[in-house]
Amino acid sequence: MAFTLPDLPYSYDALAPYMSRETLEYHHDKHHKAYVDNGNKLLAGTEWEGKPLEEIVKGSFGKNPGLFNNAGQHYNHIHFWKWMKPNGGGSKIPGDLEKKIIADLGSVEKMKEDFAQAGVTQFGSGWCWLAVKDGKIAIMKSANGESPLVQGASPILGCDVWEHSYYIDYRNRRPDYLKAFVDHLVNWDYVAEMYEKAAK
Ligand SMILES: [Fe+2]
Repeated sequence: MAFTLPDLPYSYDALAPYMSRETLEYHHDKHHKAYVDNGNKLLAGTEWEGKPLEEIVKGSFGKNPGLFNNAGQHYNHIHFWKWMKPNGGGSKIPGDLEKKIIADLGSVEKMKEDFAQAGVTQFGSGWCWLAVKDGKIAIMKSANGESPLVQGASPILGCDVWEHSYYIDYRNRRPDYLKAFVDHLVNWDYVAEMYEKAAK
């Protein structure tokens, strides 16, 4: 199946003032669309044509860098839009996930700090993550279009720290963007949904 650009699950104004309409227009309509369009061109005629996206991402890693970069970013962005919602963030984490975070990472507050710190310290373009690895929730980070999928883990929350994700609203203040993401944007219900799937 060819890649298709999903609609945002909310309006372009819905995440303001933490993420503006202008950022979402560029990020979704131009950047994500380019990953979809380029990915489709690079997918055509390869052994991965018609395969599920996760299989394409894992299979092309280290073998077909052009396809991997676009397929990886397509995967990351599909979930990124759903990892946010208006009036998100805060401490309303569904019970099972909250317990697991406390057991594996110490506390919700520590998890938030460590997650943001992973994003701040990712050198250059990339992502920071919460992922399930070997049955535990871990903080991870990755470069460019990579994700925990190619690090032997299952992503359950990711924040895009490419400059295209924050430069319009925050200029060079990546730490402020990460704090706003954690405090005001994260859709913990969707994180819990991915955690339930990853934990199976
Ligand atoms: Fe992005």
